[in-house]
Amino acid sequence: SWLPLLGPWVSIRNLVKIYSSGGKIAVNGLSLDFYEGQITSFLGHNGAGKTTTMSILTGLLDICSDMDIIRRTMGVCPQHNVLFDILTVEEHIWFYGRLKGLSGVQVREEMEQIIQDVGLPHKRRDQTKNLSGGMQRKLSVAIAFVGGSKVVILDEPTAGVDPYSRRGIWDLLLKYRTGRTVILSTHYMDEADLLGDRVAIISQGRLCCCGSSLFLKTKLGTGYYLTLVKREAGRGLGKEPCLRLNPAQGKDPVKVTVHP
Ligand SMILES: Nc1ncnc2c1ncn2[C@@H]1O[C@H](COP(=O)(O)OP(=O)(O)O)[C@@H](O)[C@H]1O
Ligand SMILES: [Mg+2]
Repeated sequence: SWLPLLGPWVSIRNLVKIYSSGGKIAVNGLSLDFYEGQITSFLGHNGAGKTTTMSILTGLLDICSDMDIIRRTMGVCPQHNVLFDILTVEEHIWFYGRLKGLSGVQVREEMEQIIQDVGLPHKRRDQTKNLSGGMQRKLSVAIAFVGGSKVVILDEPTAGVDPYSRRGIWDLLLKYRTGRTVILSTHYMDEADLLGDRVAIISQGRLCCCGSSLFLKTKLGTGYYLTLVKREAGRGLGKEPCLRLNPAQGKDPVKVTVHP
């Protein structure tokens, strides 16, 4: 039946992780669902428990059963790039594609497409040690999608990346989200907002809230939106307010007059 397809692809229930070194409760009773065709932004400050949760989901920590089956349909971009210095961009895609079980022909097709989409065609035969940080990050994100990964886990894919490459990674994620369950951790609110079909906010290992950004903004939005109106030169600047602060929740708008 079609009903089970609507259910979550990844479900976390009451996850707890206490590191033996230091006895720190890194994840504290976390319950969360991730759905197909959606990017779920996992938003939280440094040390909130994002990497720990993702490490458990990917089997790097603690989980030791069924990982072989799970990994066939899982793609991962870890927080720190894991690339082979002397392999080229093409060789990385080929290597991971073959690991995932693609045939030689399939991997070649997919390589072509993904290298275009990730914007690295001019670097395809460069060894990764000669790529910029942003390019290495893009390659790491691309690798997570290779071989038809259905569940894609990306740990701060845009950390330390320049704004242009960051934009490129966003476009890639939006294009590749169809038919996949994408879990993306970030501490950028704009990124979580723009990419996430749903945003899950985590702090000190606990889920604070989860929902679409519209829902979160309506429910919790305080403060103001700042609208800037640019006037043409010489047309009554100063007579009318140029800046308006629109309250997020039913309060009166605050007008700020800008004097020339
Ligand atoms: N290997 C480890 N040993 C002990 N404590 C750790 C380890 N890894 C992470 N922690 C602690 O667990 C908490 C959550 O860390 P982490 O999951 O890396 O957060 P995030 O990815 O959200 O920045 C932090 O307080 C961190 O110091
Ligand atoms: Mg982390």
